[in-house]
Amino acid sequence: MQKDLLKLLDLSEEDIVHILNVADQLKYEHKHNIEHNFLKGKSLAMIFEKNSTRTRVSFEVGVYQMGGHALFLSGKESQIGRGEPVEDTARVLSRYCDGIMIRTFDQEEVENLARHAAIPVINGLTDFAHPCQVLADLMTIRERKATLQGLKMCYIGDGNNMANSLIVGGLKSGMQVSVATPDSYRPDSRVLEFAQASDKFLLTNDVRAAAEGADVIFTDVWASMGQEEEREKRARAFQGYQVNAELMKLTNEGCMVQHCLPAHRGEEITAGVFEAHAGEIFEEAENRLHAQKAVMAILMGGLREEP
Ligand code: CP
Ligand code: NVA
Repeated sequence: MQKDLLKLLDLSEEDIVHILNVADQLKYEHKHNIEHNFLKGKSLAMIFEKNSTRTRVSFEVGVYQMGGHALFLSGKESQIGRGEPVEDTARVLSRYCDGIMIRTFDQEEVENLARHAAIPVINGLTDFAHPCQVLADLMTIRERKATLQGLKMCYIGDGNNMANSLIVGGLKSGMQVSVATPDSYRPDSRVLEFAQASDKFLLTNDVRAAAEGADVIFTDVWASMGQEEEREKRARAFQGYQVNAELMKLTNEGCMVQHCLPAHRGEEITAGVFEAHAGEIFEEAENRLHAQKAVMAILMGGLREEP
């Protein structure tokens, strides 16, 4: 595995399986009060240039559970917000800390940070990707369905960071992936280039065609962080791109519903479908903790071999 976790395109199929296996093991150990001090004496700097509930709490708690320490750096309140070059931030943090988690807008900023940092950099969400979320999603599906190979994943809605990462994560895990987006809101072209090389990928603007025979349905907000001003325009463009009871009828029996949260009931998902699947949606949120602990144990704690 590489030094950093910047996007799932950088991971091999084996890397993903290794992370999921370690995550399962760490979840088991945590539930059985078995200590796993992979980060003893280590520190993680967490840079946030966007809001967060799950990512911040799960990283901070995860580091603590592995014997380390996490620092919250708000983009606005640090020198990053005053324009200090990312190259300098990378070199400074590399002298104090053992890893950096960053949530920001531009993927290139994260790639640049990683290029100049001597320590692992983990992408906690950019406009392009949300790799930690999708590792937790794959973990949740594998827990419930025992395998990922051959299952059909469907994503309905905006071709955003979640869509980009789900497509790559799903295909690299041997899943069939179907995506329904309006024509002007398709996933990133680099992701489509990767996906269209596979015969297991379908991109359509027909939500029913995408949902047909699905084993797990994903959706996400119509307007992501940073797109607040486009909310009304997007609300019009995404009419019909909703996970509702009617759509669920087309899916396979036992079809799971996943949502990275926060969810907008009545927009991308109905309250009824959300509540009917709340158990697996909140398990997905919990698994952020375990999946990210696995990433940190591997990248920062030396757990590069199979446990
Ligand atoms: N799903 C997710 O990343 O949640 P937060 O924005 O609360 O971190
Ligand atoms: N697509 C959403 C995901 C939030 C976790 C956003 O970027 O705001």
